[in-house]
Amino acid sequence: MASGRRTSTRIWVLADAHIGGEPTAELMGVNVRTNLRHAIKFVMAQAGEADHIVLLGDISHDGSAASYEWMATEVGRTGLRCHSVPGNHDGARYAGFRRHVAPGDPTRLHQDWSAAFLDTRGHGSEPGRAPLGDVQRFWADWASETSNAIFFMHHDLIQPVPPGRVGIPNAGEFMLALTRGSNRQILVVGGHRHQYYTANIGSVAYVSCGAISCQFEFDDETPVRESEHPELISIDLYSHDYVVNRHILSSGPG
Ligand SMILES: [Fe+2]
Repeated sequence: MASGRRTSTRIWVLADAHIGGEPTAELMGVNVRTNLRHAIKFVMAQAGEADHIVLLGDISHDGSAASYEWMATEVGRTGLRCHSVPGNHDGARYAGFRRHVAPGDPTRLHQDWSAAFLDTRGHGSEPGRAPLGDVQRFWADWASETSNAIFFMHHDLIQPVPPGRVGIPNAGEFMLALTRGSNRQILVVGGHRHQYYTANIGSVAYVSCGAISCQFEFDDETPVRESEHPELISIDLYSHDYVVNRHILSSGPG
């Protein structure tokens, strides 16, 4: 871990698990349930009681009831509070899953950080859409002038690595909504791309979380499997700072 200090709040972010209804379900040749179990075991070995888990969309690959039931059992084993956002693969059953594992809508994960969990699903298409109204309500209703802000969303806000696969077509408007009237720290955490990277634009820091299922590289527009090892990040929130840690689970789940 990058810091010897015990954080006030640690958040484990698990993106793009792509769980299927069948136990043998695979994504690009990888058993996705095996990878998710590996990640859960890793989190349980390190987590403190006050930690949180965020599932960053594409929780299910096929939208099946079995996939959500299995995921609810697995995250339930951690005993941690679990929050989530939906991805483009998450269908109608996501709403029931969210109510089950994350009752309520936590807006404070830390006394100096306000949190927003955004639904960026487009209308039946892979590219998402930033909910500008939700961001404006967040600033008006929840985020105080002295608070830092952390936004969780499935789709990729910024693509600083080629090719420029579209994440959210209204990213420009979203950036303006994010930064409106604020000089606080603003951290945006996205997934969908199955690649870890970071970018900073003004007061906005963006972290693209690697995937639990498998990591992508791209052949022109098409994603191809770059690694079968699950990845996740942990975010430590302090009053005036944060630390993002990347975890690559390179050995077997044991
Ligand atoms: Fe996705």
